[in-house]
Amino acid sequence: MKRFTSVHDLLNGYGLSQAITDALAYAESPWKDECLGKRKTVGLLFMNPSLRTRMSTQKAASLLGAETIVLNAGSDSWTLETRDGVIMNGSTTEHIKEAAAVMGAYCDILGLRTFAGLTDRTYDYQETVLEKFIQHSGVPVISLESATRHPLQSFADLVTIEQHKTTQRPKVVLSWAPHPKALPQAVANSFTEWMKHADVELVVTHPEGYDLDPSFVEGVHVTNDQDAALKGAHFVYAKNWSAVEPYGQILSQDTSWTVSTKKMALTDNAKFMHCLPVRRNMIVTDEVIDSTNSIVIPQAANRVVSAQTVLAYMLKGLA
Ligand code: CP
Repeated sequence: MKRFTSVHDLLNGYGLSQAITDALAYAESPWKDECLGKRKTVGLLFMNPSLRTRMSTQKAASLLGAETIVLNAGSDSWTLETRDGVIMNGSTTEHIKEAAAVMGAYCDILGLRTFAGLTDRTYDYQETVLEKFIQHSGVPVISLESATRHPLQSFADLVTIEQHKTTQRPKVVLSWAPHPKALPQAVANSFTEWMKHADVELVVTHPEGYDLDPSFVEGVHVTNDQDAALKGAHFVYAKNWSAVEPYGQILSQDTSWTVSTKKMALTDNAKFMHCLPVRRNMIVTDEVIDSTNSIVIPQAANRVVSAQTVLAYMLKGLA
């Protein structure tokens, strides 16, 4: 596998079912491929903050016997210019073209985190920065969350649902919830995209004005009625995102959308999920996230097996 930027990179290769099987096998036996990455180096470049993605990907590489080098653009490496043809007389120090090529010379696999800027929808939705990094790196690249998707998160989400489901085809509800800052649509887009290919009944619910990009929700049951969506749900995945149109704007902070005990009572004893970090008592109440139905910690723990599976596929491709 040469790139992992969306579910399509798995669908076009190993397939989703095989990927879940392999991830569950790593959950069972974390060290079973401890020599696969021997003498290989994984470089991780973060243009935005991270706790889970950073630690889980390093842990996954370590379980496969690979070395990791982690850089934070702008703090422990140079500030990166991502636009082409600009006169670099401002604050940026190094162009992504050279940075990607140099990292590719040092590493066998690279990962990049580059969030949406939320000012230019076309620039973000064309994945301009990620594609430039792939183009110039010369090695396989993993998205550590890009402008429009967070595939390692969605893969971990799918593995978590597989582990916790009590019915063959669970009802999975992705619900918008309020947040004080404008957040990208990446997690919601990505989760929707992955669930469309999973054996689940998917419902997306959000207030009016928060429609996701049509390319992600085509064929998906979408409703502005959160209570109706939650009825009979087996999994509730809460997430905030900013509006797609007008791009990157906050249209609502309506706390009636916060996932509360009353909301969870509408479900079929649903498990609560969130990718973390989460704003308590904005996205979800303390009672819900601290309840036994909350699976946010095992969900975050599964970030290791999703990264391990993807790294293993890439390492096998290098052999
Ligand atoms: N869920 C997630 O990607 O967490 P981090 O931003 O901490 O990596």
